[in-house]
Amino acid sequence: MSSSITLPNASSYHVPIMVEQILQHLHVSAHHTYLDATLGGGGHSEALLQHSSPDGKVIGLDRDPEAILEASTRLAPFGDRFQAVQSNYSAMRTVLDDLGIDFVDGLLLDAGVSSHQLDDADRGFSFRNSGPLDMRMGPDDNTPTLEQFLHTQDEESLAKILKEYGELKGSYRVAKAIISAFSAGKITNTGELSQVVVSAIQPGLMRRMNINPATLAFQALRIAINDELSHLREAVYSAVECVRPGGYIALMCFHSLEDRIVKQGFRHLANPCECPPGLPACVCHKQPRLEIVTRKPLKASDKECEANPRARSAVLRIAKVLPTT
Ligand SMILES: C[S@@+](CC[C@H](N)C(=O)[O-])C[C@H]1O[C@@H](n2cnc3c(N)ncnc32)[C@H](O)[C@@H]1O
Repeated sequence: MSSSITLPNASSYHVPIMVEQILQHLHVSAHHTYLDATLGGGGHSEALLQHSSPDGKVIGLDRDPEAILEASTRLAPFGDRFQAVQSNYSAMRTVLDDLGIDFVDGLLLDAGVSSHQLDDADRGFSFRNSGPLDMRMGPDDNTPTLEQFLHTQDEESLAKILKEYGELKGSYRVAKAIISAFSAGKITNTGELSQVVVSAIQPGLMRRMNINPATLAFQALRIAINDELSHLREAVYSAVECVRPGGYIALMCFHSLEDRIVKQGFRHLANPCECPPGLPACVCHKQPRLEIVTRKPLKASDKECEANPRARSAVLRIAKVLPTT
């Protein structure tokens, strides 16, 4: 990448990841409008605005009102080149319709949570700093708090969530311990929840784990409560309805389940034919909507991972929107 790339100013809210690769693959330039579907602290949006100077525009979405406030303050110097909308990204097409925008020229989605959300104990995402049983990314679409969610769970359903979304070994034991302690009123904050998770892991297994089991349990609960995978799946399909033909989509994920959704969604949109195998010619006439630009996902450089360990798990996939005939 050329050395003329200006990186956004450092922010304690969230350090944007793989900025250079994203700018390059979105072909960011003046006169264009970009959709940042996950505004967070506004780091990526700032880079998009800087590199589409003097008149490029960015529409930024986030379901978290705190992110909207933070990014709007940071990006105020760009005036009406930037517009923030509090919304779930699964509703991106409706947001553009409401703004009277047919298509944007490029779209970025940087999935998951921001460092600020993880670090702020009051949000209830943190197992290190005790906070309320919350974990909602935003007060939108009637997302339950962690406390409300736990009231709806039994051992089997919770064990399934911990296993599927957290790949937590010993998930049934942990689920049993959580349900029992929660029913007895012994889990009233994230610190207590974290202790229950850790105590439920057998010592032999604990010695073999190279990650705190509470990290995996909290990740699983966060994904379930915020229904993150369904929204991401919807967003992959909405993205092709929002970007003009010839424009690019950049999707960055931090979890293998998220990346699988993006990979499968891109594959399906690039090859949507539903004809049974063996037919001499296609009869469903479904047209490809995307061309996959990155057969293998892009990863952050060693230098970036050293400076920002969170970049280690980032995987970035790029696709180009095709014209419909
Ligand atoms: C990794 S952060 C984005 C950081 C941002 N790129 C930056 O430079 O600061 C992910 C953001 O996406 C938001 N988010 C997660 N799921 C969302 C959804 N379904 N709809 C809208 N925003 C979502 C979170 O609230 C969070 O602020």
